[in-house]
Amino acid sequence: MAMAELTTPKTTSPFLNSSSQLRLSSKLHLSNQFRHLLLPPPLHATSTSKISCSVSQNNQAPVAVQDNGSVKTKKECYGVFCLTYDLKAEEETKSWKKMISIAVSGAAGMISNHLLFKLASGAVFGPDQPIALKLLGSERSIQALEGVAMELEDSLFPLLREVDIGTDPYEVFQDVEWALLIGAKPRGPGMERAALLDINGQIFAEQGKALNAVASPNVKVLVVGNPCNTNALICLKNAPNIPAKNFHALTRLDENRAKCQLALKAGVFYDKVSNMTIWGNHSTTQVPDFLNARINGLPVKEVISDHKWLEEGFTESVQKRGGLLIQKWGRSSAASTAVSIVDAIKSLVTPTPEGDWFSTGVYTNGNPYGIAEDLVFSMPCRSKGDGDYELVKDVEIDDYLRKRIAKSEAELLAEKQCVAHLTGDGIAFCDLGPVDTMLPGEV
Ligand code: LMR
Repeated sequence: MAMAELTTPKTTSPFLNSSSQLRLSSKLHLSNQFRHLLLPPPLHATSTSKISCSVSQNNQAPVAVQDNGSVKTKKECYGVFCLTYDLKAEEETKSWKKMISIAVSGAAGMISNHLLFKLASGAVFGPDQPIALKLLGSERSIQALEGVAMELEDSLFPLLREVDIGTDPYEVFQDVEWALLIGAKPRGPGMERAALLDINGQIFAEQGKALNAVASPNVKVLVVGNPCNTNALICLKNAPNIPAKNFHALTRLDENRAKCQLALKAGVFYDKVSNMTIWGNHSTTQVPDFLNARINGLPVKEVISDHKWLEEGFTESVQKRGGLLIQKWGRSSAASTAVSIVDAIKSLVTPTPEGDWFSTGVYTNGNPYGIAEDLVFSMPCRSKGDGDYELVKDVEIDDYLRKRIAKSEAELLAEKQCVAHLTGDGIAFCDLGPVDTMLPGEV
């Protein structure tokens, strides 16, 4: 899933306008109040020009107004979204909530291609929640990013009020309330895992700094790009002004996979499986917890008598599901990853059903399970639906679980040592085992 395209670090010329549909505009702002007043387009694009629009009212691009004598800038909008952000002016939108801004990196990749249309449809944040999408891509992918923005235009989503595209995280992350960090470099042939950690770590260090500088101070960050736990750790360490608690590594796909396998074995539909914890790293050391999971409200071990299968077949099938999928598809999971991102967000913005919980990779400081501090580790959580969460305290950890959790913990500690130069923890020292540090897709 994490094999979306690489997002490059901050560049000096982040907004490209190579498409014939795009035109540069001056740094002028279309204010809500004066949006009907159009200024003529600028004669020259300057080096500070940043707005790109494919469409504007009456086919005049760009759109700009003077607001009480002062000149303001509408941010880097795309096409029709340059025109449609004035929620207060339209009767049917007055009951809507205040618009939220969501940044998506790797926005031209496969996962995003599934995700963005779910976000824009209202399926994630609800039917009364208007959204702005801030799409971050690499310079190499800018044409594809425009293609994505065009498809979003053509989809006529009522809740989608703004789309901005760019290659500079310091621009794209401005004021965002959610950052879904999907873009990461795939591991190339012959590439050492340490090198992968370093290359992707640099991207996430840069994006952490950018979030720290320009995002909403309470931004929620979900890291999908692999190795997502360590990338999330790097990101949060580079964003000291944002609560560490706000950073997540996506292990919801693993939770969903585990629920599916248990449902299959028990012969029930998967909605009957609850309390599914994934412990640890999103890698082949992850621990799908069948001890505390339930089927139809009963402990799994009471419903599935084949305990050997639980310990071996089930556990391995979840750990290696991503790899099997790559064998079949010829590429990483994309659609199911996007669905699991939706599930992960919904788990934070809707109250967790009584007695249940969900899995997400979060910062370990203060955890009640004795897991080493200063890691991002998947654990069971509950939410009141306010975007925040608390760790579930009363889960049983037996010897079987403890041993396996310790293995995943050791793996994450080793990964952390490899990226010490990116987390402010001194000089990196990389000693990764050949097997334990595989991503699910590298089986
Ligand atoms: C997955 O779990 O499907 C992915 O993380 C696999 C991968 O390595 O991209």
